[in-house]
Amino acid sequence: MLKLPMPENITRNSENKIQNPISGLDKMVRFADMNPSLISTEEINEFITKAKQESSQFREKFENSLENKLYKNDPELNQWFENPENNQLISKFTKDAIILVEKMSASGLPGHDRRHVACDVISDLNCLQEESITDFNQAAMIGALYHDVGRWSEIKLWGQQLGGVLGVDHPKISFMFIKEIFKKYPDVPQKLQDQVLYSILVHQEGGGQGNFFAEFVQRGDREQLVGSEGIARFFAFDCGLDDRSIKTKVNNERRLVLPLPGKPEDTDLMHHIEFYMRNLYPLTGNNGPQKAKELKIISGTFLYLSSTDEIRDQIFYPEIYRDQNNGSLPEGLKFKTPISEEIWQQIKKGPSEDIRQHIEEIKKNNSNYSLISRIISSKGFSVVSRELENIEKNINEFKDNTPESDRLKDGLAYEVVMMLNQENNYRQTLNKIKETYPQDSIPSQMASLASRIIL
Ligand SMILES: [Fe+2]
Ligand SMILES: [Fe+2]
Repeated sequence: MLKLPMPENITRNSENKIQNPISGLDKMVRFADMNPSLISTEEINEFITKAKQESSQFREKFENSLENKLYKNDPELNQWFENPENNQLISKFTKDAIILVEKMSASGLPGHDRRHVACDVISDLNCLQEESITDFNQAAMIGALYHDVGRWSEIKLWGQQLGGVLGVDHPKISFMFIKEIFKKYPDVPQKLQDQVLYSILVHQEGGGQGNFFAEFVQRGDREQLVGSEGIARFFAFDCGLDDRSIKTKVNNERRLVLPLPGKPEDTDLMHHIEFYMRNLYPLTGNNGPQKAKELKIISGTFLYLSSTDEIRDQIFYPEIYRDQNNGSLPEGLKFKTPISEEIWQQIKKGPSEDIRQHIEEIKKNNSNYSLISRIISSKGFSVVSRELENIEKNINEFKDNTPESDRLKDGLAYEVVMMLNQENNYRQTLNKIKETYPQDSIPSQMASLASRIIL
């Protein structure tokens, strides 16, 4: 098991600086696990500079090899993976990884909390199953599990989580971490280590450059940005933590242009949900495109149901324009990538009769606030009273019995139904994994982790 140093074991000098600098993994863990006031600014800067240098050297070397990029079939590595002794080693490695991630993610804020880990793991377990992966490529799950270790250090390093496009350095911090961890497992083949490290380093980027490990980790990370999980996550993160407005402001610019997530202009929750629906990077795997379509329909239906007619015109301007102009699109669209005709038709059609009935039942005994708190209190979210207070303040801007408030309630009740469906899907995936893969295998251990967090 990895040994995590406790703060009281560390000696400090009269200026409260660490007296005996710790090296390697212990130092990394300390960054993530301790109060930043105990770490000097120079120490942090030195570490970040080193992380940038080492990761860019690694990346350049890795990407220069075509074999690395297209890596998926490797009989030699498969043989290594099937050997019972090595299998035990990987199983032990996975156990340790899970312990570390469970410990570190417990301090994660909404958006990058334990639920993020569980959803990530479940998406990738689904992908494993769809692609019938039983060889060494299962080890891509390690990258999925570890990819945000750097995120959990952000709070300690900078005093806050850097959301959206601003948090670009955390993959490099994760990279440094995992490199140190691999040093404790020198028998794991270097080429397997490199694949995992690469997938972690590029997890925030658009395409995996044809590399299976990278595309696999990216799928797990981004599937949860769209669909019911994405909506719940943005309520917790955007409104709860960052104080973005639930009420969408009338703004003609938003018909054509969406702000990048995390930028100061990114002030409205609904446009944030819209951004990810419109700009989701492709999901890898044979079922990836179908999955993406289903998720976009859920996000789109939520936005459509939640909005007044005026705001619908603002959010869905490219599609409404397309309907009225024989399929042509308005000029000047930026990050407002039009959704496909098929998805748009589904959104306008709305939920099925069954779902509509369920929505009406849920609406009877709930206020908008109680629906939101139900959504963001799902298991594994790190929501505390601060988030709920922010949301309550925000929801008070809506006057009862107005079209604005009534439409929002339709959307929220729809989201509750979708979250219930989702939970059933999660349960089915996890049960299937436990039936398919041996008990101590990487997938089974990860399925147990996800069950613990989310069910
Ligand atoms: Fe990340
Ligand atoms: Fe992530």
